[in-house]
Amino acid sequence: MHITDDIRYVGVNDMAIDLFEGQYPVPQGMAYNSYVILDEKVAVIDSVEQHYGETWLRNVAAALDGRTPDYLIVQHMEPDHSANVAAFMEAYPQAVVVASQKAFAMLKAYFGTDYADRRIVAAEGAKLELGKHTLTFFTAPMVHWPEVIVTYDAYAKVLFSADAFGRFGTPEDGQPWEDEARRYYIGIVGKYGAQVQALLKKAAALEIETICPLHGPALTENLPHYLSLYNTWSSYAPEEKGVAIAYSSVYGHTREAALLLADKLRADGQTVEVYDLARCDQFAAVAAAFRYDRLVLATTTYNADVFPCMKTFLHAIIERGYRGRTVGLIENGSWAPMAAKTMRAMLQNCKELTILEPTVTVASALSDASRAQVDALADALKG
Ligand code: FEO
Repeated sequence: MHITDDIRYVGVNDMAIDLFEGQYPVPQGMAYNSYVILDEKVAVIDSVEQHYGETWLRNVAAALDGRTPDYLIVQHMEPDHSANVAAFMEAYPQAVVVASQKAFAMLKAYFGTDYADRRIVAAEGAKLELGKHTLTFFTAPMVHWPEVIVTYDAYAKVLFSADAFGRFGTPEDGQPWEDEARRYYIGIVGKYGAQVQALLKKAAALEIETICPLHGPALTENLPHYLSLYNTWSSYAPEEKGVAIAYSSVYGHTREAALLLADKLRADGQTVEVYDLARCDQFAAVAAAFRYDRLVLATTTYNADVFPCMKTFLHAIIERGYRGRTVGLIENGSWAPMAAKTMRAMLQNCKELTILEPTVTVASALSDASRAQVDALADALKG
């Protein structure tokens, strides 16, 4: 596949994977992208996941068409991209690795060598001349590991963006970029908003016509749209108005309260998404929590705490920097409701959160009193 006349796609699609990074469901598979730039000198950008090494090396050889690569640019050392670096260096003994200093330390840890006699250390702003294509490297620490660099090709106006702008699925799966990119970004990079903002500032100074990430499709049109979403996500601003309702329910009564609230909000014309945390992809719920400006947490009291899947969900949003939103609480308890108190305590260090009154307390099953609280919470959520 051609990105431009002399930039070739040599990545692979992983259709056997069930959980990316061991926890994110990827029903449409996952792409590990890699690129070859053919010029007077030849550069290969990144490798792929371990199981696809042979396929990748075949793709590279086909793109090279008899030429030999001069450089392997290692932008990111997470094994979904670096697992085959050693195999490449063995296959092409004249090739030189280009990577950050931190990446070379990781290469030593993964492969037992830091290629001391076959390497170029790419510091911030360093350039690599291939011929027509001059590459400039920019550090992008914590997007998504500390060693990450991105690569700008000034001739082709292409930004090779490492994990940034990637999404779950494959370039060919036809899914809209936004939902799977949001779930990917919030899940995997969401904690590092400040570092993504720093990268966006660097990108703003470049003339970019194509973004080539390490996952998902190359982005060739409407780039301001993608850049704007990345700016929204990394600044922790809600993407749109709406209410995400995340609930856990043991015998259905908490669920009933959550769905009653959803009905009332929808009747008012509000956008509402409801997630059963025991059954859904938790990271779809996490992405929705960040997408919308309001979140309702509904859960049972359990061991004088909150139900386990709600606790996992809360940890997931808190560690990703959940902030700047409005939260409603629904608790259930048959003898000593504790869930709302526990959730408030867990959320207390989140910045700029508004926790609405009233808290809905369901004592075992919905009653006239708790239905009235649901009405009042719906009114409060409507603002
Ligand atoms: Fe796609 Fe952070 O690796």
